[in-house]
Amino acid sequence: MAERIRVMYSEEEVSARIREIANQINRDYEGKEVHLIGILRGGSFFMCELAKRITVPVTIDFMSASSYGMSTTSSGVVKIVKDLEEPIVGRDVIVVEDIIDTGRTLSYLLEMLKERQPESLKLCTLLDKPDRRVVEVKIDYNGYSIPDEFVVGYGLDYAQKYRNLPYIGIVEFE
Ligand code: IMP
Ligand code: MG
Repeated sequence: MAERIRVMYSEEEVSARIREIANQINRDYEGKEVHLIGILRGGSFFMCELAKRITVPVTIDFMSASSYGMSTTSSGVVKIVKDLEEPIVGRDVIVVEDIIDTGRTLSYLLEMLKERQPESLKLCTLLDKPDRRVVEVKIDYNGYSIPDEFVVGYGLDYAQKYRNLPYIGIVEFE
């Protein structure tokens, strides 16, 4: 099936929005250090751009959970494919994700991370699709709430493609 990508948020718009989120984090974490946990692979682009705009001391780590594979519908199965390199006990943690869709992945990961006793644990996502929520998840920092469309770019993929697009686009199937 052929597909076309229509721009939803341009590179400039996304960049400006990420700066706003970073400024909010800079205010909220003044005098503290923040430990960012990027969710591979989709959250990595957003996390790097966010980290570059944060001015309090930053450390980073990554973890990977199973997600959509080649399909555009969630399997509901969450599997830890790669765990963190470092303990998070006593740290101020922000989990950084590309998109919250059904909420299954993040509700599972957040519960798991909470048991490791961080000082604080927040969730930052570039995109939120509230219409699709199955499991409730508290989002602390959100780039954009979007309608139920399949989007790519800025780390988000369709069949592993388009992650490298420097903007957020809607996939249109022809
Ligand atoms: P959830 O567990 O349903 O919230 O799934 C979240 C994951 O599904 C994200 O991390 C993405 O990998 C993937 N996903 C959900 N919606 C989209 C989309 O519109 N484009 C690309 N990936 C998506
Ligand atoms: Mg993902």
